[in-house]
Amino acid sequence: MPVSYKDIGLENTRDMFRRAFAGQYAVPAYNFNNMEQLQAIITACVETRSPVILQISSGARKYADQTLLRYMAEGAVQMAREMEKAKGFDKAIPITLHLDHGDTFELAKSCIDNGFSSVMIDGSHLAYDENVKLTQQVVAYARERDVSVEGELGVLAGIEDDVKAEKSTYTRPDEVVDFVKRTGVDSLAISIGTSHGAYKFKPEQCTRDERGILVPPPLRFDILEEIEKKLTGFPIVLHGASSVIQEAVTTINAHGGKMKDAVGVPEEQLRKAARSAVCKINIDTDGRMVMTATVRKIFVDSPGEFDPRKYLGPARSALIEMYKRKNREVLGSAGRYGAEA
Ligand code: G3H
Ligand code: 13P
Ligand code: ZN
Repeated sequence: MPVSYKDIGLENTRDMFRRAFAGQYAVPAYNFNNMEQLQAIITACVETRSPVILQISSGARKYADQTLLRYMAEGAVQMAREMEKAKGFDKAIPITLHLDHGDTFELAKSCIDNGFSSVMIDGSHLAYDENVKLTQQVVAYARERDVSVEGELGVLAGIEDDVKAEKSTYTRPDEVVDFVKRTGVDSLAISIGTSHGAYKFKPEQCTRDERGILVPPPLRFDILEEIEKKLTGFPIVLHGASSVIQEAVTTINAHGGKMKDAVGVPEEQLRKAARSAVCKINIDTDGRMVMTATVRKIFVDSPGEFDPRKYLGPARSALIEMYKRKNREVLGSAGRYGAEA
């Protein structure tokens, strides 16, 4: 039996993005694969009064089971409402359940039929006309159910679920108007120099600061500006937006890890992007790294520990702090839960 997201307290992204555009901030899109990550995202977003997009990749569906994840998201909405009631908050934060990097019509349809309020159809690795065709098919199905759709133009390097791209291709501003018009997407992911994972730039693309830490080249804001001019008022999405927090890299490497030259997008650049047409910023890797750093440290400092709650609990606490900081200091989404609109 298909279930509509409206019956489980979720929202599509349309109002969220309209407010984010007007308010010059970006809505956080955080990936989750397990209970601790989901609890941390919800806790941080309720406490900072931030709208939030919960993202599930097809890798997450394989790892944790698609049915379980969907019910977890439904449970997360209830958890948020209970927290808000207990804290005496006046209004509920908007929560979207989104498919990250959907690659087939069937996958997008299955998510829509199972309570997702938003889907990404990522045809960015296909020829332009094929991307248009696939995206149109998903939009037609989603529109009838009031589900929002994110498309992508331009290829990000790194791993996008099962699609691996060695090289990135920047989005071509001359294609965006035609793509948005023909497909009817609600938002567009673009490629301006970000990439997925913990190694976003090769050391030879970077300089080093006085401490020897890699300083990456700036994102292509010129391309973003050209796109903004062509698509007036249209919500843009930034994937691959983890900063690869250097404190986490140091902790991981000091406790048996090997993450040499891991580097991400500097937070000041994301802050700048959030003030532009970028209405959704995707962050997954930073969460993975903060969890890993916390767990590695506990394993080294307390080798006798064997209760998962004693390492996953602290990992969850560290995640909460990280997400709160992102909402407040990077995305600007804290306090923007709709009461201000
Ligand atoms: O875009 C990639 C996301 O970080 C999801 O990664 O496919 O390993 O779950 P994943
Ligand atoms: P990061 O790997 O930079 O966290 O990007 C996540 C992402 O784009 C998910 O779609
Ligand atoms: Zn992505």
